[in-house]
Amino acid sequence: MTATELLAKYNVPVPRYTSYPPANYFEESFTAKDYETAVKASNSIGEQRISFYIHIPFCRHLCHYCGCNSFAMMSPEKIDRYVAAVHQEIEKTTQLIDSHRPVSQIHYGGGTPTVLPANVLKELNDHLLSAFSCINRPEIAIECHPGYLNENEWQSLAEAGFNRFSLGIQDFDEKVLKAVNRRPSLLPVESIIQILRQKNAGINMDLLYGLPLQSEKSFAKTVARAIELQPDRLVTFSYAHVPWVNKRQLVLEKTGLPDKEEKSRMYDKAKEILQQAGYQAIGLDHFVKETDELYFALQNGQLHRNFQGYCTRRTTGQVYAFGATAISQLSGAYAQNSKNIEDYTEKIESGFFPTVKGYRLTEEDRIVREVIETLMCNYSLNWQELSNRLSIPAEKIKQATAYNPALFSAFASDGILTFDENQMQVTPQGTLFVRNIAAALDKRMLHSDKSFSKPV
Ligand SMILES: C[S@@+](CC[C@H](N)C(=O)[O-])C[C@H]1O[C@@H](n2cnc3c(N)ncnc32)[C@H](O)[C@@H]1O
Ligand code: SF4
Repeated sequence: MTATELLAKYNVPVPRYTSYPPANYFEESFTAKDYETAVKASNSIGEQRISFYIHIPFCRHLCHYCGCNSFAMMSPEKIDRYVAAVHQEIEKTTQLIDSHRPVSQIHYGGGTPTVLPANVLKELNDHLLSAFSCINRPEIAIECHPGYLNENEWQSLAEAGFNRFSLGIQDFDEKVLKAVNRRPSLLPVESIIQILRQKNAGINMDLLYGLPLQSEKSFAKTVARAIELQPDRLVTFSYAHVPWVNKRQLVLEKTGLPDKEEKSRMYDKAKEILQQAGYQAIGLDHFVKETDELYFALQNGQLHRNFQGYCTRRTTGQVYAFGATAISQLSGAYAQNSKNIEDYTEKIESGFFPTVKGYRLTEEDRIVREVIETLMCNYSLNWQELSNRLSIPAEKIKQATAYNPALFSAFASDGILTFDENQMQVTPQGTLFVRNIAAALDKRMLHSDKSFSKPV
C-alpha cells in the first residue's frame, strides 16, 4: 500500500498503550483501601526495584496544545500546601514499602516541576531516598520548561541531584511557539547544555509536530537545529489533538492544523534526518545516540516502557506515584490520584490516600500487558521467547490476546508487518501503526466504546 493509502486505512483512534489496560479502563470502584492493599502486595509480587513519580501540576503559562494535567500557577501559599501534601503522601506510602527494596528511578513530571525552586525539589528527593538504598546510578529525572530558568537556576537544579533533564523545546521557530502560547528558552540552549554536561547529566529534548504553522520543511529545520545541539535523546511527540478532553486545544483549530499527510511527512522527514545523523529509533518517537543505554537495552531485549516513557529494565521498577493526577503502576494494580488539586490536598490532609480510580489486573491482563509492551518496545514479538520469559505456554499467551491470523494476514498484505505462527515483525512502513497492531491483540478493542487519539 502507498503511504497515503495506509494513512487512510490506519489513522483511526487507537490506544497509546502507555499502560495496559489503557487508563480509560480504570474504574471508580477501585478505592484508597484497594490502593493500600496493592502497595502492601507489591512487596511480594513482581519487580523489587522501586520507581517514584512526582507530579507537579503547575505551569507559568498554559500552552494551547497541552494534553497534560496542568494548571495555571497558584498563590505561593497554595503551592506550599501542595508540596506539604506530597511530602505527607510520600510518608504514608513509603511506610508500606519494604525498606530492603532499592530505588532505581525518580521522575518528576507535570505540569512544570521546575516551577519549584531547586531546594524544594531536593527536599522531596531527600525524603524519597531517606528510607531506601539505591541501585548503582539510579535515574533521577526532571521535565523542564527552559522558558523560565536562568543560569543560576539550572546550576542549582544540576546540584540538587538530578542526573537526567528533559528540555521542553517543542519547536525552535518562535512563530510556532507564539501560536501555541509558549515562551522560547530564556538562555541559549547551548548554554543550558554546557551547564548540564559539566555535571555529567543526561540530556533529553522534547519536540512536538502537528502544531499550527508547522510544515515538513519548518519542522525539519527544528530537528536539524536539535541535532546540532547533540542531546543524548530526542523525542518527537505527535501532537494529540483531543479537544473533547482538553477544550483549550480548540483555539488551535482557528489558526489551522497541518493535515494528516503533512503531519506524516513531518515525522518521516524528522526520522530520516535523525537517522542520517546517527540517532537510533527507539519505539516510535524516541531517538537516541548509539552510546545511550536505551539503545543497548533495545539490542539486549532490556527495553521497558511506562507512563513516563521508555526506560531500561535496570532502572525499571514498580511505580509509586505522588501528587494530583499521578498514576501508580504496580505489578498487580494501577491507581490514579484525584486530578483536582484541592481535592487531592484535602484528602491527604485528612489522612486518606487520594485515590479516585484504578484497576486490579487479572492474570490474563498481565499476560496481554507483556505481549503489548514487547511489541511496542521492540517492533517484534516471538511467542516462544515470551513463553520462556513468562514461564507460560505460548498457546496460552496467544489465547489471552485477540490474535487472529486472518487479520494479521491483512496487515501483512498491506505491508505493515510480516508474521508466521512463531513470530511477528513490524515493517519500516508499519512502525507508525504499531498501536493499531497492538490493538489487534487486545480483546478489549473488539468492542470498545472508549475514545482514543489517532496514531498520526
Ligand atoms: C509535562 S510537559 C514537559 C515539561 C514542561 N511543562 C514543558 O512544557 O516543557 C511533557 C511533554 O508532553 C508533550 N505534550 C504536551 N501536550 C501534548 C499533546 N497534546 N500531544 C502530544 N504531546 C504533548 C510536550 O512535548 C511536553 O514537552
Ligand atoms: S506543555 Fe508543559 S508548560 Fe505547556 S501547559 Fe503543558 S505542562 Fe504546562
